[in-house]
Amino acid sequence: MSSMLIAALLSYLLGSIPNGLWLGKAIWHTDLREHGSHNIGATNAWRTLGKAAGISIFLLDFAKGALSVYLGSVLVGTPAFMIVCGILAIVGHSCSLFLKFKGGKGVATGLGVMVMLMPLPALLVFLIWLILVKLTGYVSLGSIVAAACVPLLAWLMNYDLPFILFGLLAAVFIIVRHHSNIGRLLNGTESKIQAAKR
Ligand code: G3P
Repeated sequence: MSSMLIAALLSYLLGSIPNGLWLGKAIWHTDLREHGSHNIGATNAWRTLGKAAGISIFLLDFAKGALSVYLGSVLVGTPAFMIVCGILAIVGHSCSLFLKFKGGKGVATGLGVMVMLMPLPALLVFLIWLILVKLTGYVSLGSIVAAACVPLLAWLMNYDLPFILFGLLAAVFIIVRHHSNIGRLLNGTESKIQAAKR
């Protein structure tokens, strides 16, 4: 098997690991899909299981994105293939092999990918996300706006076209994955973030 195929398969598999679901069940005996927003990501873990769960699931989902890009750099070594591995990790997170091709919204994994590919834009979008979440209380709004800023920042900071296209693709993907949040934001039923007391 070529190293490209190995890197691609490993990235998708890594992305597929449903940290929120498995950790939620193993440690907190809770299936995140049955609570809150029904999402398996860090936000719903924070909301349903508390701060420790939210932070640990964020870090694990972030790590699988970052590790996939690292695998692409070690096994293949071209920026284009690092981008491919990052995209496969995000797709794996949202269309997981272990969840009948269902999954999360790709924000934490996407940030992990971005930190490896474009560290400065990653830091800026994280700050944009943080400010919006602090100001509004809506994590989804922060995620949607931050995702939309990725291609814009990549372009403003003179990244090469493949990076701008990655940003565009990731932004569209993440925003589409938030379709139910967008509906709730528009009709005023989106819940503001608050950690469960544990
Ligand atoms: O990262 C996902 C976040 O933007 C929204 O999560 O659980 O409120 O749908 P949730």
